[in-house]
Amino acid sequence: MILNRPAMTPTLRRPATILAIESSCDETACAITRENEVMANVVATQIATHQPFGGVVPELASREHLDSIDAVVHKAIEEANIDTDQLDAIAVTEGPGLVGALLIGVQYARAFSAALGLPLYGVHHLEGHLCSVYLAQRDSTKGNLFHLSPHLALLVSGGHTQLVDVRGPGNYAILGASRDDAVGEAFDKAAKMLGLGYPGGPAIDAMAQSGNPQAHSFPRAMLAPKTNLEFSFSGLKTAMHLHIQKHGQPESREALADLCASYQAAIVDVLVEKVRRALAKTGHSSLTVVGGVAANTALRAQLARLAEVAQLDYRAAGLRYCGDNAAMIAAAALRQFHADVEPRVDVHTSRALDQQAQPS
Ligand code: KG4
Ligand code: ZN
Repeated sequence: MILNRPAMTPTLRRPATILAIESSCDETACAITRENEVMANVVATQIATHQPFGGVVPELASREHLDSIDAVVHKAIEEANIDTDQLDAIAVTEGPGLVGALLIGVQYARAFSAALGLPLYGVHHLEGHLCSVYLAQRDSTKGNLFHLSPHLALLVSGGHTQLVDVRGPGNYAILGASRDDAVGEAFDKAAKMLGLGYPGGPAIDAMAQSGNPQAHSFPRAMLAPKTNLEFSFSGLKTAMHLHIQKHGQPESREALADLCASYQAAIVDVLVEKVRRALAKTGHSSLTVVGGVAANTALRAQLARLAEVAQLDYRAAGLRYCGDNAAMIAAAALRQFHADVEPRVDVHTSRALDQQAQPS
């Protein structure tokens, strides 16, 4: 059984140095952390490889992970400027993700931990995203491991859109999720239709900055009934498709900016409204936003505004920790390490966050 003992209080802990590996999708990443301080954070992205296909090609992803993982790990050790005998544990993403991609990271981590005689912790990728808010830059005094528990987390990425009730370290309940496309996919697919390339989120975000969010009316799905905490983005994607079919591609940069801003506003409005509802339902006064889409400028601004008005303890993941990275995997493993969880790795491609064993 994993995660079955409560965490020790921070004062009793000895600082742990963890090397973590993430390879669940299209980033080969390695990070080294000491407690929640990031000593090295290396991410080798495969964007250029997958760009011509407009999405991630699993077989190509596995091959690239295999080609780059050794160099990425060595670069992280160099960047952290430590000897491997200073490490206390190894961590690796065990799922969900692409099976071939996951297995490269897991096999590498297994060999590495065996060679060094160190415990190996398997981490749920989404728990990694949730823990990304605890990371602090080297020599920074910011960040406090369990400061925000319990809280509401908005987890928004290329594969997931979830409202998570973080009841305590390792104790998660999903309050609502997308019934179809993840929010990152909604960004990526619209960007593809508009010829903005892959990944589309950053491109739409950038274009939207100079656009009018009220120029076009896009649907806000699943707002009724008022208790609904689920999401659906496939209709929005279709609405963009129909808009382009009817009006053609935007002919000026201004028109493109208006279209991007209006599309983005439909997404952000729904996310913020559902956050508001989930806060009311749970009674939480702390909020985090994590995952690749947490980098979105409009989303961050609107959540910050909500937090100010509602006087929430609010933390958005640092921009370098929104997209997939291994520092967040180390942050999640740190909780297991200090809770004396039995180290184990159990590779899976789709296990939900709340199907993990819960602490007693
Ligand atoms: O968390 P992540 O790196 O990978 C997954 O676990 O899925 O998220 C990637 C997603 C992509 O869909 C990308 O378009 C989106 O995050 N994204 C953004 C922004 N930056 C990345 N979406 C909206 N605005 C952004 N600034
Ligand atoms: Zn992710």
